[in-house]
Amino acid sequence: MSRPKPAADPSAIASRPRPVAVAEDSRILASLLELSTSLPIDLDARAIAQTTLAHLHALAPQCALGACIALPDGEQVVEVCLSAGAASETGRDPTRLFPSMAHETIISLEDGAGSTLHMGTDDDALAEETSTTAALAQRGATVLASALARAAKFQAAQGNVTDEVSRLKAQMIQAEKLSSLGQIVAGVVHELNNPLTSIVAYSDYLKKKVQSKGGDLEDIERLRRIGEAAERILKFARDLIAYARPSREIPGPVPVHEIIDKALVFCEHEFSGSSVEVSRAFADRAIQVRGVPGQLTQVFVNLFTNASHAMDEEGGQLSIETELSASAETLRVNVTDSGRGIPPEVLGRIFEPFYSTKTDGRGTGLGLAIVRDIVTAHGGRLSASSSLGVGSTFNVELPLVALPPSSRK
Ligand SMILES: Nc1ncnc2c1ncn2[C@@H]1O[C@H](COP(=O)(O)OP(=O)(O)OP(=O)(O)O)[C@@H](O)[C@H]1O
Ligand SMILES: [Mg+2]
Repeated sequence: MSRPKPAADPSAIASRPRPVAVAEDSRILASLLELSTSLPIDLDARAIAQTTLAHLHALAPQCALGACIALPDGEQVVEVCLSAGAASETGRDPTRLFPSMAHETIISLEDGAGSTLHMGTDDDALAEETSTTAALAQRGATVLASALARAAKFQAAQGNVTDEVSRLKAQMIQAEKLSSLGQIVAGVVHELNNPLTSIVAYSDYLKKKVQSKGGDLEDIERLRRIGEAAERILKFARDLIAYARPSREIPGPVPVHEIIDKALVFCEHEFSGSSVEVSRAFADRAIQVRGVPGQLTQVFVNLFTNASHAMDEEGGQLSIETELSASAETLRVNVTDSGRGIPPEVLGRIFEPFYSTKTDGRGTGLGLAIVRDIVTAHGGRLSASSSLGVGSTFNVELPLVALPPSSRK
């Protein structure tokens, strides 16, 4: 019996273009086509190799067939289908699955990981490159390689879906927590509202009384602090309620520039405390956006207050600029401050509820979360950019209710 010819180097085979057998049997082609379309997408690499090899072996029972498949985790799957009487001696020579056979054709699956399909035979004619069996091995390798690639993609996609589902679940749990927190807080705030309003009113009354009688300056200062502290609790409580409860106001046309002016008036005490200079550059004042006036006021009060806090130490400039979008469908309001800026690692978190860097008790971290929710509910968009030590810009984009005649071209 003739002894085995050494098997060709697999890498050399992989890179050499092989002629397709002319006498390729149409029955084989049809059968492989059926195999490639019928292989389930959710099989693992071993099952794909087993099914493919069994199918090929049924078409060429006189040959031994095998596959070495490299898995992403570095493991290797080796599967063989032997012809009657053949013995696999896998392991002696890592490049050969059938070292005792006269011929072993090794075809690269070209997956970049070194996976191969092996066909062994002692029959010289079957090993010929132009034989039908050689063509079968070539076609079989293509079917196996594409089934493995499809399965790998499917598994990767499934992994992504699982990650996405867990992320959404976590978000739902968080949303649920916030919603129940909102209900609890609404009840607590309701109870707090009246006593706090009394504290604010009576501390103010007593302060004025002591002042008018030329009383102790330190007592006047204490009374002022009592009123200020009570006002801060009231604001916090109202912010929480606004955040937790959807507004019942019906959206309508809103003269947005008037709203901005009103918000500026609300923030005057903040600006005077921080020596903030305000400048405005408005597009057509008659422009109206569709929205809820109270909520839009809240948006600008929050943005202006943040800007003022960012300029605390040395004061600075707050500029409010409005412009129509090119399509004249939205109004863009740019709120720019010359404050301390926002570090890049913080910028991604500022819209999260309860995220605040204000450790002096001035921040609850709800301001921008509320602003974002209001703007989104108005069909608008909110974005922020910042440069450390230079300042920050918040862009609010709001859909127009209709373009005023004076703005139409
Ligand atoms: N204009 C700005 N300049 C610099 N940092 C800002 C600016 N606006 C927001 N930030 C940062 O984003 C954080 C979150 O802002 P947000 O308005 O949500 O909460 P807050 O101002 O801390 O508290 P409050 O709920 O009272 O508004 C702030 O603590 C601050 O670190
Ligand atoms: Mg704020």
